[in-house]
Amino acid sequence: MSPLGAPGAGERQRVLSGFRPTGPMHIGHLVGALDNWIRLQDTHECFFAICDWHALTSEYADTSPIRGYVLDMALDWLAAGLDPDRCTIFVQSQVPEHAELHLLLSMIVPIAWLERVPTYKEQQQQMAHRDLTNYGFLGYPVLQAADILIYRAERVPVGEDQIAHLELCREIARRFNSLYGEVFPEPQALTTRVPRVPGTDGRKMSKSYGNAVNLGDPLPETRQKILRMVTDPARKTRKDAGNPDVCPVYDLHKAFSDRETLDLVNTECRRAGFGCIDCKNHLLRHLEPVLQPIQERRARLQIDRDAVRAILAEGARRARAEAALTMKRVRAAMKIDSGLPG
Ligand code: TRP
Ligand code: SF4
Repeated sequence: MSPLGAPGAGERQRVLSGFRPTGPMHIGHLVGALDNWIRLQDTHECFFAICDWHALTSEYADTSPIRGYVLDMALDWLAAGLDPDRCTIFVQSQVPEHAELHLLLSMIVPIAWLERVPTYKEQQQQMAHRDLTNYGFLGYPVLQAADILIYRAERVPVGEDQIAHLELCREIARRFNSLYGEVFPEPQALTTRVPRVPGTDGRKMSKSYGNAVNLGDPLPETRQKILRMVTDPARKTRKDAGNPDVCPVYDLHKAFSDRETLDLVNTECRRAGFGCIDCKNHLLRHLEPVLQPIQERRARLQIDRDAVRAILAEGARRARAEAALTMKRVRAAMKIDSGLPG
């Protein structure tokens, strides 16, 4: 270890990522994030956070669903293949040190930096039915920076939509280091090329659009959703030729089907050789074997909720040990570690 606790050569780089527990995980999360996290477990020292405080920033008025979403999220992660022996899975609110770091960082973050974050105004507009003029919502990226910096994480696997938050996190780290001395490494985004995953209505898959295929959906429901999914609108009848390049079903094929099937779809769709139902059945033939083992694991875990709670408790214990180390350094650097004699 270097004096700052950054890993030296040969040690695994540290990764942190997280999600807000505001609803069920869907197949877009699987190919967009979870598959990548599962691979990272073997190459990096990984921390994955269920960020319930972040959920509160917009869901503060009715907090009752959050608890259930937290447990569901843990189930989905474990069922998808995160392995608590190879990574640390924890709930943000079980590591209260995040709140202390958030507070201290808030002293050095200009409000203008936060108002400039593109997601701030965007989300306020998108969620116009919510009052998002609260202080906590403005501070969302500061809390996210605390999540990352408290583990001195070097790599943060995130989607495109989170790049601005990560850039802000780096600015906060730089500002902290220049004011108080080098404590934090500047974390880097780890973006992987991910396939576009449209929802059943053709828009980006999102729980707020009601167009998602959830990991926990029973397979007959998944089948129904796919069979009803919108296709190339120009292909009105079985006899019309279609164009896979403008069809959201083809995007799902690209995420889940093999090369051979992609070629088949390309040929048969364009010459009206098969119908959209045939095409969707080919997709389901690839999608179902991905979902089935996840659902089997999920069902087993669901019976043993205490085991899941124990995994989260152990995760929080490991996370707290690291977070406490960082906080010692942070307090010392900021000279807020006087304590009273006694
Ligand atoms: N803001 C992220 C999202 O909406 C969730 C998140 C919270 C996060 N803390 C994080 C992501 C830290 C990466 C690192 O998905
Ligand atoms: Fe889309 Fe497949 Fe129908 Fe072509 S055949 S329009 S790719 S669903």
